[in-house]
Amino acid sequence: MRTAAPRAASPRRYLMCPPAHFKVTYSINPWMDPAKPVDLPLALTQWETLRDRYRALGHTVEELEPRPDLPDMVYAANGATVVEGRVLGARFAHPQRAAEAAVHAEWFRSHGYSVVREPEHINEGEGDFAVTDSWLLAGRGFRSSPLSHPEAQEFFGRPVIGLDLIDPRYYHLDTALCVLDAAADEIMYYPGAFSPGSRAVLERLFPDALVADAEDAAALGLNAVSDGRHVLLPQAAVGLFGPLRERGFEPIGMDLGELLKGGGSVKCCTQELR
Ligand code: ARG
Repeated sequence: MRTAAPRAASPRRYLMCPPAHFKVTYSINPWMDPAKPVDLPLALTQWETLRDRYRALGHTVEELEPRPDLPDMVYAANGATVVEGRVLGARFAHPQRAAEAAVHAEWFRSHGYSVVREPEHINEGEGDFAVTDSWLLAGRGFRSSPLSHPEAQEFFGRPVIGLDLIDPRYYHLDTALCVLDAAADEIMYYPGAFSPGSRAVLERLFPDALVADAEDAAALGLNAVSDGRHVLLPQAAVGLFGPLRERGFEPIGMDLGELLKGGGSVKCCTQELR
């Protein structure tokens, strides 16, 4: 048992998009089954509970206007990556989501962000990019192109660590890895989602990481958001609560069951404006 270090939350700014037009009419990841009904009012309530929880914790939540023709817009994490006010836009792998990129880019331009790059290569924003103070962790294998990694490194001036995703259920990096404390380079992740070489890289860079098991990963437990102290995560990932508390974090279980039907949870709905 480790002794819990004192943890401090820092105020964050998030961009979210209400699931007003959420539905599952196509399938671009194994979680999506168009035959399964979605309870839209419930999806909205679950999403509002998450948004209100962020606000109650003292964070700022900006809202993006949802578009009826873009049912996946609720997964706002995919629309861009923002570090130190510099915005790397997204370019989606699937045509169904392609138009989301421009909606995000427009939001940034109209909200005072002067450095907004329209990317050359496919990247799905924070779905595949995770930021620690030392590195930009970058997933590839299902969505973001490996060529987006050097593009992001050049743009942000941060060393990119490329990580190969091998399990289609964990098609985005943020379904298998979560930054708990960026300043301390502290993460949690599910090794089974990564190639053997990438697993070895993660062990080398993050020897003290919280390692999740298959069950918590399958509950999308790694699709979590940390403010340095509070960790908001899918409530079904029960195995993560104890280990997080032992590290001094305060886990907060959220029920985003309806949004799980699109293959996303807490983190997918939350883009951080750093
Ligand atoms: N249905 C969406 C897709 O497959 C879910 C995106 C989840 N977002 C995330 N950041 N992992 O693209």
